[in-house]
Amino acid sequence: MAKYITTPIYYLNGEPHLGHAYTTILGDILKRALLIQGEEVFYTTGTDEHGQKNQEACEKSGLSFEEFSKKYSDNFKHLFEKLNIQTDLFVRTSFDYHKEVVKTCLDIVYKKGLIVKKNYVGLYCKGCEQFKKESDLDERGFCPDHQVAPEKITEENYFLKLEPYRQWLIDQIKLTPDWIQPAVYANEVLNLLKEPLDDLNISRPKSRTDLGIELPFDTNYVTYIWFDALINYISSLNWPKDQKMFDKFWPNSIHLMAKDIIKPHCIYWPIMLKSLDIPAPSSIMIHGYLVGEGNIKMSKSIGNVVDPVKVIGEIGVDAFRFYMAHTSAGAKDAPISERLIRVGYEMLANNLGNLHMRTYKMLEKYTNKTVPDATLRPEDKEFLENISKSLKEAVFSLKTITDIPKLTEKALKVCSELNAYVDKKEPWKLAKDETKKEELLSCLYTLAEGIRIVAIALNPVMPEISDKILVSFGVSELNFNQNSFNIGGLSVGNALGEAIMLFPRLEEIS
Ligand code: MSP
Repeated sequence: MAKYITTPIYYLNGEPHLGHAYTTILGDILKRALLIQGEEVFYTTGTDEHGQKNQEACEKSGLSFEEFSKKYSDNFKHLFEKLNIQTDLFVRTSFDYHKEVVKTCLDIVYKKGLIVKKNYVGLYCKGCEQFKKESDLDERGFCPDHQVAPEKITEENYFLKLEPYRQWLIDQIKLTPDWIQPAVYANEVLNLLKEPLDDLNISRPKSRTDLGIELPFDTNYVTYIWFDALINYISSLNWPKDQKMFDKFWPNSIHLMAKDIIKPHCIYWPIMLKSLDIPAPSSIMIHGYLVGEGNIKMSKSIGNVVDPVKVIGEIGVDAFRFYMAHTSAGAKDAPISERLIRVGYEMLANNLGNLHMRTYKMLEKYTNKTVPDATLRPEDKEFLENISKSLKEAVFSLKTITDIPKLTEKALKVCSELNAYVDKKEPWKLAKDETKKEELLSCLYTLAEGIRIVAIALNPVMPEISDKILVSFGVSELNFNQNSFNIGGLSVGNALGEAIMLFPRLEEIS
């Protein structure tokens, strides 16, 4: 089945940070797992380039908009390439095709009479690019996410009516329990829907912001950044021009994001789609924040961000991806610091790294650098069958981002079991006893085959380390499907590849 995965498209007003890497890595892991499951996947990420805060950042930079947007958008693109993220499209809202689609949508909704013009007084948080209610603010009257007081704005604007669709949205959430995941966020949205919905301000007078898409029905205005940005999810499928592509991917569309942007995605977006006669996306998967010191959300506006490039330079891309996957905590916030990342790295090195190294060394010493011709002892066969079953299940049941840490957990557990198996079997003792040769070969094959299966299971999380492990055991087929988990995948007599250190010591790196 064809699946469509999207991340939020990120603002340009700063360098990409760990939080952006987090969602985009989770999406990439989900994509790679679905590919092993045999699905076809279209995965998009990109940059949200219009609106007031981008405009101010652009003015500060002294660059033209073209130079500014290209430079900052490329920062995201390059980081994601570095992180080995395989997107099928990098969206930029300044692309002409996207602007056309936004205008088409505005036109349709306007002609349906769902947009009205009126005077408005509201509290605007630039960080969120959203109007806030008094009840959204903390006791000081600050936006809790951006720690600043929103600006009071009075202006004449265009509005999309949301209230006529409130009951429909409530029913949609109640009738489709997995639509907004995890359920705690579905409840949060239902709470927001208890009160009548204010009309959504969908325009900005050019006198305030002119970085945006002009309204097709009033040239004095540009459209509100969220009305523009959300539409990337359908413009990326080339709607309405390529109905075939749209019909293929939209019915299985998965939007990923953190909890900061629930309201636009779970209220504005489904209602915008409804008013365009387009079905809602099939699921909205929300995760908590990666939180820095003092449990404060990391964000460009607050300035408490950790540099992912520095971290990658220290521990490597795959160990970083593993940390993100393993720490991802579903609805809960996940703590992150350089110290925690190092601890995670050492745990991986001591478990998987050590297991691989000691197994490789034993094959080097006892089987002349080849995969042994072993007759598997029944207990070894059973052990491998359990490993195969458990890890295949972990990969094939990975359907949402909350399943990702379950996979890393299981893989680490299997590595621990394999390490315990080495300690128990003491192959170096078996090697000294000629009568134990068969047991030794069965043990070594079990180890190498067990690690092969771990490497395949971890391929979505650590694609390069996975390939390195497989190549070190002489495996050349690096495309996987359900049969890859079958026991016996490691061919007898395979010459081992080069010896490699999967996770060098941190002091050696720095
Ligand atoms: N441009 C809008 C999204 C439009 S989508 C149609 C936007 N951009 S953003 O640059 O602020 O990105 C927000 C998203 O970045 C979050 O929803 C999440 O995916 C990611 N994260 C940013 N900081 C994060 C954390 N500290 N922790 C987890 N995710 C974070 O909102």
